[in-house]
Amino acid sequence: MVKLQSLALLSLASTALAAPSWWEQWSLNKHSSPSPIPGSVVAWDADRRLVQTSAEKAPFWTTEEDRLHMLRKNIKYMDVTNNQDLGQERVQSVRLNPLPEAAVHQDKVARYIDQLSTANMEVALTKFTSFNTRYYKSETGHDSAQWLYKQISDLIENTEAESDISIRKFDHPWKQFSIIARFEGKSEALSNQPIIVGAHQDSVNMWLPQWGRSPGADDDGSGTITILEIFRALVNTGFRPQRPVEFHWYSAEEAGLLGSQAVAQSYEKKGVDVLAMIQNDMTGYVGTKFAESYGIVTDYVDKELTDLIQVFAAEYGDIPVRQTKCGYACSDHASWAKAGYRSAFAIEGDFSDSSPYIHSSSDDVSHINFDHMKQFAKLSLGFAVELGYYKGEALA
Ligand code: BES
Ligand code: ZN
Repeated sequence: MVKLQSLALLSLASTALAAPSWWEQWSLNKHSSPSPIPGSVVAWDADRRLVQTSAEKAPFWTTEEDRLHMLRKNIKYMDVTNNQDLGQERVQSVRLNPLPEAAVHQDKVARYIDQLSTANMEVALTKFTSFNTRYYKSETGHDSAQWLYKQISDLIENTEAESDISIRKFDHPWKQFSIIARFEGKSEALSNQPIIVGAHQDSVNMWLPQWGRSPGADDDGSGTITILEIFRALVNTGFRPQRPVEFHWYSAEEAGLLGSQAVAQSYEKKGVDVLAMIQNDMTGYVGTKFAESYGIVTDYVDKELTDLIQVFAAEYGDIPVRQTKCGYACSDHASWAKAGYRSAFAIEGDFSDSSPYIHSSSDDVSHINFDHMKQFAKLSLGFAVELGYYKGEALA
């Protein structure tokens, strides 16, 4: 035991410096799966988590050090420790609801698009990035969630328009909570078939996760504020869709999609029949390799929904579409896909041309293009209105 603890200390100390390569090699090569220690009280084991890095490979156990290493090396993973049965229940009864084929609510969408303001987004993003870090386990990560929660609840309280909107905190076993805001739909028959517009509110400094400065302006302050601005436009214009339209701000995406997996799992358990989900993660940086465009992610997404969001992009956006790939467990849409729901993902451009500043103290507002963010607000606004008013086929 003493031996294990000193090994842990050694590895902790090495976090601040470069991790020794023998340790990196050893920790990444072990794909063994020791059984978890039940109700473990041993500090060294407390941070052991089961992660998955590809759909084909079995999950394996990691230490916090291993996961930090993976983040630094750009090895994407889903932390499945508490969500091993995600998708299991729904897969049995999966019946993907039909989607519309075209955009038909141009007049309505145009009214909401008129409300979008880049100045508003700049003020909000500047404030949101002023928290030292939004790391999911940190005090300031909790403070930033409280601030975001207040922005949303103030919008709901102060509107004169008549909609039926609610907000709730989705608590997790760590400091930062996820946030869910919901417009009720007019149709009783569709009340269990919401659509979801999502983003992640946490940020991470991959060199010093707990304390390091992590403005996370692009990743994913941009998506967070993009969907907040859509929400504002809809609230102020009295949005009354047919089906429920939800806005989700997830915690702990950077820790292996923890927040979105917990939310998706709770929806699966409750038998919620989500029609479609769109993720907004990194909407603010215009790369240097290609002309400004939407990056439409084509891997680990629903094909039909992805086709449809390209129809919405052409209809409501002003920039072209580039198809691109993001990899396994790239962002929160993957949690919904795994749970057996349709999900799609639009990013700031080609994956190879995305912001080089993420996960560091340099991911600040100076690299953000607010007109670019507005393009994503138009796209997800089109998604919310078109699918929110879509009546679908009669329920089976
Ligand atoms: N926002 C990134 C994913 C991303 C990167 C989107 C580049 C578009 C362009 C996301 O927050 C992220 O960092 N994901 C991690 C995986 C996570 C589950 C550990 C990653 O990509 O390493
Ligand atoms: Zn990230």
